[in-house]
Amino acid sequence: MRQFTKAEARRNRIVLFAILAILVIAVVFVVSLGRQTDKAKKKPAQTQVTSQDTDDLPEIALRVGQELTLDEEIYGNSEWESSDENIVVVGSAGKMIGLAVGNCEISTESNGITKTVPVTVVSGYMTPEGGEPQIRVVDGVTYVNGILIVNKTYSLPEDYNYGADEEALAALYDMFDAAEEDGIELFIASGFRSYEDQKVLYEKYEEESGKEAADTYSARAGYSEHQSGLAFDVNDPSDAFNDTSEAQWLAEHCAEFGFIIRFPKGKESETGYQYESWHVRYLGVEAAKEVTESGKSLEAFLGITSEYQD
Ligand code: DAL
Ligand code: ZN
Repeated sequence: MRQFTKAEARRNRIVLFAILAILVIAVVFVVSLGRQTDKAKKKPAQTQVTSQDTDDLPEIALRVGQELTLDEEIYGNSEWESSDENIVVVGSAGKMIGLAVGNCEISTESNGITKTVPVTVVSGYMTPEGGEPQIRVVDGVTYVNGILIVNKTYSLPEDYNYGADEEALAALYDMFDAAEEDGIELFIASGFRSYEDQKVLYEKYEEESGKEAADTYSARAGYSEHQSGLAFDVNDPSDAFNDTSEAQWLAEHCAEFGFIIRFPKGKESETGYQYESWHVRYLGVEAAKEVTESGKSLEAFLGITSEYQD
């Protein structure tokens, strides 16, 4: 075999190196072209999915009884529909009202594109605007400024029968734990009572002490907060509980856990009931603190009555 001269060998090495370099550049170019093509293919699809719809619109949270007008700049000015009108109603001009605790969606359609916005309605309380109570009745249940109200004026339907409210019960047990850390033992004496339970109880008291007297300490069937699942009697539901260290602890700390002493001393003409140091009502921490700090009964705080029709 012929030996290459030194010059030929050098030239061959340069040619080989140049071929390799061209090959590497070609491979890099093809790969990057492929990637760009992929991106270009995906882009229109992405635009279609997200164009002004679902994912771009903020979710909405509002409280029971709260009114909200959809911001036209964000949500546009089309007609919206609610997927569950028991939870939220939405009218023309994007005005919506939270009616009951739950989740649903509001949606609208324009140019063949459906926009959907998830809505969560939470229980809760709103500071009354202009001092006027906002009273809404949903399926026979009355909410005043977002607070479910049961008293002598506002009753519950007979079939309102949902047991103790989970959130209220959890808060109650947190309160019991905190009390225990302070050396105070609290426990439930009476929690949820159905319409029927209350009927039996009230009729017993009515028989024992007459209607007029019974009405000062026991609610008629359908008018007891116990039926709401949001009220609890602790330890000893009798005057013997008043002024005990447990009653004092309860009055001092219950608002921290979202409860109020529902029938305070000296407010009998507002609440319609005698003082009950043992009966707490769950409102949530924000409202409970505000009501307690006001020193008012819930009726006076909200500007409502508690009076039977007859
Ligand atoms: N003791 C309260 C008023 C009730 O019966 O609900
Ligand atoms: Zn009670």
